[in-house]
Amino acid sequence: MKILISTLLSLAACGPGDGGEPTPTETVCPSPDPNTLTYENFGRPFMEKYCTQCHASTLPRSMRNGAPLFHDFDSLLGVLQVANHIDEQAGHGPNAENSFMPPARCPAEPGEAPTTDCMKPSAEERRNLALWLACEVDRPRAVRR
Ligand code: HEC
Repeated sequence: MKILISTLLSLAACGPGDGGEPTPTETVCPSPDPNTLTYENFGRPFMEKYCTQCHASTLPRSMRNGAPLFHDFDSLLGVLQVANHIDEQAGHGPNAENSFMPPARCPAEPGEAPTTDCMKPSAEERRNLALWLACEVDRPRAVRR
């Protein structure tokens, strides 16, 4: 019962705007991975343009404009840890077009009150986001010690 209640609460807390529910886009990375979208040429600049003013490991709770802790997109690891949530909030793909994030209003500078309209990714950028995530989660990477 506890699990059911907390599941319902977290569903209710998800996704301002847009009417629908956050839904997996079910984007599949082509095989072989075309490797056209990478963290360096797509993921990092996308996150820095649209997300890290609220979702960054450098921002304490009081400066995040409500963005949940542990959803930090200023590193590849931070993105990969919740790649499925990002897909459900911001990705477009064959099964869903999610435009819940970013929200409507953004701070001009990280940590400030939200006083400007958030810049919105285009539909193509959202499709590329879902595609990049679908590929990136399966890419081999060096183990860091
Ligand atoms: C203005 C600050 C702000 C910006 C910019 C922003 N977010 Fe958020 N984000 C929030 C808030 C507030 C919540 C919690 C409310 C909610 O879940 O709707 C949240 C929640 C989330 C969640 C967790 C949802 C859940 O409940 O599981 C994800 C994933 C997310 N955001 C992804 C993104 C992505 C990707 C971007 C960039 C495209 C982004 N956010 C930009 C404020 C922001």
